Amino acid sequence: MTEILRVDPDNPERALIARAAECLRNGGLVAFPTETVYGLGANALDRAAIERLFAAKERPASDPLIVHIASIDEAAFLVTGIPDAARRLAARFWPGPLTMVLRRSAQVPSVVSAGLQTVAIRVPSHPVARAVIENARVPVAAPSANLFSRPSPTRASHVLADLDGRIDLIVDGGATDVGLESTVVDLSGDSPSVLRPGAVDIEALRDLLPGITQHSMDPVASAMRSPGMLARHYSPRTPLILHPGERDAALRALLRDAQQRLERGESVAVLAYTEDVTELRSLPVQLVQLGSERDVPAVASRLYAALREGDQLGASAMLVRNISAGHPLSAAIQDRLRRAAAR
Ligand code: TXA
Ligand code: MG
Repeated sequence: MTEILRVDPDNPERALIARAAECLRNGGLVAFPTETVYGLGANALDRAAIERLFAAKERPASDPLIVHIASIDEAAFLVTGIPDAARRLAARFWPGPLTMVLRRSAQVPSVVSAGLQTVAIRVPSHPVARAVIENARVPVAAPSANLFSRPSPTRASHVLADLDGRIDLIVDGGATDVGLESTVVDLSGDSPSVLRPGAVDIEALRDLLPGITQHSMDPVASAMRSPGMLARHYSPRTPLILHPGERDAALRALLRDAQQRLERGESVAVLAYTEDVTELRSLPVQLVQLGSERDVPAVASRLYAALREGDQLGASAMLVRNISAGHPLSAAIQDRLRRAAAR
């Protein structure tokens, strides 16, 4: 049975946090909110707990986990050394939605890192995540709390839909804020690179690390560098069709695509920006609102919930146009939509 503990997201009740922390220390699996998405936590130093975690998510053993800690001081135990670049990034962006890949120490079981010589580390900022990690007094490995390849969970109900009966506890602290997973930066080699775009965008990183590069955003190439970055990821079960490019042309292509599908007798759902709703209403499609394209953080925050809602409609296909560039979060949204649409 999976138990749900409702907590105050800003000021989580100590007794409830103590129960979640104890469960983690005893080898349990505990989902909790972070500022990005819900994570599924397990004691990173407990090999059996980590193996249960992989099994619960149906996650392949080749996909490494992020270890969550309360402060950079706790990283010393997990890595062979903290490079200067990591200290500078930590000072600016931790706690927050940034993950750093560093060289793994012998203390970290290799299952955590899928056998790699590196380990990914993050200090989250969400008060509930912080309280759980501090009270657990162990490093907490926490992948997103979804079934493998499904959209990441941004609410406790998403976690329950995927993992009910497979995990011990869900700490329900309401909806997450950012809604997309953390930026992953590789600092384990000679030159830093961004493996996964997120809320800390490459321009902000370049401020501190001028030489940083964006690792290929091509879904297949990125899967080779960062094993978890599979081309097909975050996917709804309904086929998602992505129309890329500039707004007007993309919307025209999407409307044409919808029209053709309707003529073939298919039912069509569309993930729609507010700005597109009037034109989309000219067709008998089911709309799932993404929010205004001008409010990019709101779209990011709603994206995974929208993918899950769209999936509930039972349509033969779900259409979406990719968000325009220009906001620090645009690249991350574009990346997730490309992966969700990859077959
Ligand atoms: O925002 C987040 O990062 C969320 C919350 C819960 O913290 N966690 C999350 O974890 O998204 P997960 O497991 O769904 O994604 C972690 C990804 C892996 O799939 C992989 O791409 C990358 O981080 N990663 C982890 N360890 C790595 C390593 N040693 N080298 C390269 N990439 C790594
Ligand atoms: Mg994930």
